[in-house]
Amino acid sequence: MNHVKPVAANRLPDLLRTMPKAELHIHIEGSLEPELIFALAQRNNITIPYSSVAELRQAYAFTNLQSFLDIYYAGASVLLKEQDFYDMASAYFVRAAADNVIHAELFFDPQTHTARGVSMDVVINGLHRACVDAQAELGVNGSLIMCFLRHLSEQEAFETLEQALPYRDKIIGIGLDSGEVGNPPEKFARVFARCRELGFHLVAHAGEEGPPAYVWTALDVLKVERIDHGVQSSKDAALLQRLATDRIALTVCPLSNLKLCVFPDLASHNIKHLLDTGLAVTVNSDDPAYFGGYMNDNFTQTFVATGLQAQQAYTLARNSFEASFIDASAKRRYIDQLDACFATFA
Ligand code: ADE
Ligand code: ZN
Repeated sequence: MNHVKPVAANRLPDLLRTMPKAELHIHIEGSLEPELIFALAQRNNITIPYSSVAELRQAYAFTNLQSFLDIYYAGASVLLKEQDFYDMASAYFVRAAADNVIHAELFFDPQTHTARGVSMDVVINGLHRACVDAQAELGVNGSLIMCFLRHLSEQEAFETLEQALPYRDKIIGIGLDSGEVGNPPEKFARVFARCRELGFHLVAHAGEEGPPAYVWTALDVLKVERIDHGVQSSKDAALLQRLATDRIALTVCPLSNLKLCVFPDLASHNIKHLLDTGLAVTVNSDDPAYFGGYMNDNFTQTFVATGLQAQQAYTLARNSFEASFIDASAKRRYIDQLDACFATFA
């Protein structure tokens, strides 16, 4: 679909909500709502340093990525059993289905759990079972991307990979997350080379808070297929050119960028500039329980603040399917669904 009919401003939120879309950047541990954190803490007899849901929510006032990560890792400490991972991912899928997300690629951070004595099979089997049931019960197609924590060593990433290999049929890709500045992609050059040999799809967080140089090395050293965030790329014209020419998708997360003070307000977000430069931008929620919104909140708030229109809604949703790690026939089916939505929207 080359030309999208203009849509009246008051109808745009409806279009954004109803259009089918894929989510390519969601940390499943970042979907743990405070209510579920408290329920799991009680179920597992774990003490958390907050007396109520309201008190926990009040702590969600972040100044940068690290200030968020400290609370995010504390929240994940309530996950112990396979059923906990299942319940967390199932709750996400219900929210995703309500936002017309029909395909989701879920990041998970096994090292956050194995460091506490939770075994890899508990983590992966719980998440995988939620993916299977989401397809059957909600019609949402889910798959898993295992992330290495970049504040830890490459040796620890290798050990994590080793532990995950028995479950490799349940993992489509490998990612890199956690504190970015001071932990450049090239720190993980050898383990990503090994993952590539093993046939995994590769992605990495780069250019969230870190410099354009990290995006370059994610591309040239790690050889990733998508860049998670990547918003700092706009500081480097040659990098923008490279991303556009190679159709490297950026999984942009506007509300995350707002809450982690990457931009002072949503109106200052550079998503429109990135789209206008011809980049394959997608919209995603990152850690929706912490950043005040799931997919449709990200779409609707960003469109209001930056003045994006129906044409860009189509482009963003289409990019999400094009950049996803699904086979060509599934991509075609999803894009046909998207085209049908835009053709009939009135
Ligand atoms: N882990 C969870 N959310 C993250 C983010 N926004 N950046 C890096 N690592 C993360
Ligand atoms: Zn992220």
